[in-house]
Amino acid sequence: MIVYQHADENVVLFVTNEGKKMVKTKITTKGGQPFANNEHSLSAGARGPLLLQDYQLVEKLAHFNRERIPERVVHANGSGAKGYFELTNDMSAYTKADLFQGVGKKTEVFARFSQVAGEQGYPDTIRDVHGFATRFYTKDGLYDIVGNNTPVFFLNDPLKFPDFIHSQKREPQTGLRDANMQWDYFAHAPESLHQVTILFSDRGLPYGYGYMHGYGSHTFKWVNAKGEQFWVKYHFRTDHGVKNLTPTDAETLASVNTNWYRQEMFDAIEEGDFPSWTLKVQIIPYEEGLNYKYDIFDVTKVVSQKDYPLIEVGKFVLDRNPDNFFKDVEEAALAPSNLVPGIEASMDKVLQGRLFAYSDAQRYRLGANYQDIDVNQPHGVEIHSYERDGHMTTTENGGGDVNYEPNGQGGPVSDERGTIAEYPVTGEVANHLAYDPDYHSQPGDLYRLMTEAQKEILTDEIAKSLGSIESEENQRLEIEQFTKADPDYGQRVQKKIAEIKERK
Ligand code: HEM
Repeated sequence: MIVYQHADENVVLFVTNEGKKMVKTKITTKGGQPFANNEHSLSAGARGPLLLQDYQLVEKLAHFNRERIPERVVHANGSGAKGYFELTNDMSAYTKADLFQGVGKKTEVFARFSQVAGEQGYPDTIRDVHGFATRFYTKDGLYDIVGNNTPVFFLNDPLKFPDFIHSQKREPQTGLRDANMQWDYFAHAPESLHQVTILFSDRGLPYGYGYMHGYGSHTFKWVNAKGEQFWVKYHFRTDHGVKNLTPTDAETLASVNTNWYRQEMFDAIEEGDFPSWTLKVQIIPYEEGLNYKYDIFDVTKVVSQKDYPLIEVGKFVLDRNPDNFFKDVEEAALAPSNLVPGIEASMDKVLQGRLFAYSDAQRYRLGANYQDIDVNQPHGVEIHSYERDGHMTTTENGGGDVNYEPNGQGGPVSDERGTIAEYPVTGEVANHLAYDPDYHSQPGDLYRLMTEAQKEILTDEIAKSLGSIESEENQRLEIEQFTKADPDYGQRVQKKIAEIKERK
């Protein structure tokens, strides 16, 4: 390799032994100063110690030490992509939300898919629920549907979330994932049965992110231009068809390609085989929803599609990979509290807890100004806010504009389009048990819908995991739950656990 000085002093001309020419820019420090030597530190003599005055060495090592930020407390391991949403069915009868008005309307989107329990770098294809978080860059600001690939959840009160997650992550003494803790929690939390049944079914191991359905899971509220309110449940149906890994393939992939899901989606997008979903909704009239046979705000239960069939809304397509993983995906801050006019929270307690939890986590994870990061900024919406300062202020920070309200200086004023629809509340303040504790009927229905092969996978996989734990009492409690759902479900698990014990 021969190096020539170029006429432009900011670049160098390289000619390789094969005669290939390359013009390279010169390295600068982050302060823009010329970086003298990127291979040899400043030392006192050739064999002498290094010098503290070598600021370039200091800056490089110091920045490296600060490269890692706290990972998400859950869903740490995930991947993202960008794309668009195209409305195929006008929804103005039900909601005034801009993105759902006028067939053909396109809205830019971002999506991040994830595993719940594993840390970053944990194998993608270990059985888990998968995050299905979507962001719509609407003309009224960010709208996020932060869902999963399952229509229900493990609990129905946010107070239980930290305990539940502790039980699924690492054992405090050994630092190991531990089936004993996982089943200890499930065995004592019967409301988890529905989600446990989905988790251990073939859907707990999708082939790739593009091959799973997504769900908003909660019931949300839509409000139309006349002020009429409806309950809505979101379903993203994969256009590629549901495809799952066998447990053996998932195990093999976990060791040969730790980031299988990340790679599969990245490659598919590069090759133009774009992951896409048809967004559908169940719409439930307001009063009917309040009186439905199950509590529609209990996220451990589904609303029957026979009662409220799916209505097509539009296409959700991911056609662009991130330009930079850290900036576009790791720093993304999706939150159920990102709502736009025409879409509101419901009284689902878990949703209510989540309205607080995400932006709180993001202020800790990314800092007070996390909304100024590119991926977290709305598109085509000017920000007029009285929020100022804080760590890493990189915007104009309001310049010299008035920074308080009310004021007599023409500062921005409240926008009534953001006002939520009024609704009455009644009752006593107390630690209420709000939901119907029938936690077995729906998992039973799901079990009975499964094919023989699916029932076998489900009960094999449960028996493998539940059969490995020490507590026979927890096995008994769990089998009792399966039996209440469907006697055949309970018997199969019990028989398979007994066979595992015999083989030991
Ligand atoms: C991520 C809390 C229930 C789906 C997170 C994060 C927190 C959190 C703190 C990390 C946010 C961040 O740092 O950006 C909770 C709490 C829950 C709850 C307190 C219940 C009380 C749920 C439910 C779903 C869900 C029911 C799905 C229906 C997700 C997803 C992510 C996530 C998909 C990852 C978002 C992303 O890709 O950036 N959750 N969560 N969570 N949660 Fe939850």
